[in-house]
Amino acid sequence: MIRNRRRLRSKRGIFISIEGIEGTGKSTQARLLSEYLSKKGYKTVLTEEPGGTPIGRHIRKVLLSTRHKKMDYLTELLLYNAARVQHIKEKIIPAIEAGKIVITDRFSDSTVAYQGFGRGISFKLIDSLDKTATNRLRPDITILLDLDVETGLKRNRRINKRDRLELEDIKFHEKVRKGYLRLAAKESKRIKLVKAAKGINEIHGEIAKVVEAFLSYTRY
Ligand code: TMP
Repeated sequence: MIRNRRRLRSKRGIFISIEGIEGTGKSTQARLLSEYLSKKGYKTVLTEEPGGTPIGRHIRKVLLSTRHKKMDYLTELLLYNAARVQHIKEKIIPAIEAGKIVITDRFSDSTVAYQGFGRGISFKLIDSLDKTATNRLRPDITILLDLDVETGLKRNRRINKRDRLELEDIKFHEKVRKGYLRLAAKESKRIKLVKAAKGINEIHGEIAKVVEAFLSYTRY
């Protein structure tokens, strides 16, 4: 019975998210993981939030533009969810149904960390919107890259990455980091913490190990 269930499950793809505060190297690690899995013969789809679709990329520009300093927190929350709806319907679900491994740079945990812990929007509202937007689609496994806030922000400044959220003060980013760590403690089965104060290759090696263990456990 269990074997059957496992076999049925293995026909579906796998959904992986990479999360973390600014400057943790999420995008690099998502790309390296995707290349690593592709080389091993897996069909992968690499994507990101906000973005991942043409509509999502428009929404991303609106969200991250430094000209939009007046954006209300509720507008922000709704826009992240709007981009996510499109992302799930247009890209994530079709790829999972086709049996692929989807790797997304950010997903719903970002909303809980940034809009919930960071902005202070009610978790009840966030959860209720999330239910509507995602129909409770959750990553099978989430890699949380953790790094101290100052190092992360400095890294991004070095590569001249300064969008509307990165310009928030350090206290905001501290709240986001703490939020992520709370989430990881609460959902330790899904969210795997990886320390990001190391070299790119070392971090990649750790992520690859965690994902390999997950794939063999689920017999994907
Ligand atoms: P990044 O993909 O370059 O990290 O930029 C996305 C920014 O958007 C980043 O500051 C985190 C933020 N964000 C949220 O605040 N809520 C969300 O739900 C998502 C997906 C991202």
